Amino acid sequence: MKVQVITLFPEMFPGVMDTSMLWKAQDKKILDISYINLRDFGIGPRKTVDDTPYGGGDGMLLKPEPLFAAVEAAKKNDPTALVVLMTARGDRWVQAKAQELATGHQGLIIICGRYEGYDERITSVVDLQVSIGDYVLTGGEIAAMIIVDSVIRLIPGVLGGEKSAEIESFSDGKTLEFPQYTRPEVFMDMKVPDVLLSGNHAEIEKWRQDNSELAQG
Ligand code: 6GU
Repeated sequence: MKVQVITLFPEMFPGVMDTSMLWKAQDKKILDISYINLRDFGIGPRKTVDDTPYGGGDGMLLKPEPLFAAVEAAKKNDPTALVVLMTARGDRWVQAKAQELATGHQGLIIICGRYEGYDERITSVVDLQVSIGDYVLTGGEIAAMIIVDSVIRLIPGVLGGEKSAEIESFSDGKTLEFPQYTRPEVFMDMKVPDVLLSGNHAEIEKWRQDNSELAQG
């Protein structure tokens, strides 16, 4: 899957994207992630990307021209890509959406907001506005990494166990999470539940169901 991230801070990404599973996904050519520095599309000798809001108010907004130009450049690389805008005002990101994007295999162009926001006219080229929760971040970068992580791990071939992602998720997009244990059997007086050592798969399955939390409802 081709992912192009439009950001003023591309240096935030490699630590997360070039480690562990996301690195493996790149190594296996399942993920092709690249960064477009919004500054490169800034206006004038100072490469301006922001300006004050009409109507007054605190802070600066991302100007529309650099954002439009950056999206246009990304679209040249991947004309059919889905354009995603990271914004606290977007639709809440949920597992079902991650599943949908992972299955669609459509490329992504992810725009990371910064400062106090962006000129609303950019939404005319956006297919999907995404928020990761009811709190405000300083920018969309961390949220964008979360989107990429949750989508890429669902693509077959990324996870070592191959089936891990399927097993833990239901078709309705909800995820079943149960407590798990590994060796040693007793650690600091805390013992692994007997049923898990029993070898009785039906009992183990029942215990897991009984002790599951439905993540994200
Ligand atoms: Cl995607 N961006 C920002 N700036 N804040 C957020 C968010 C995104 N999702 C939740 N809060």
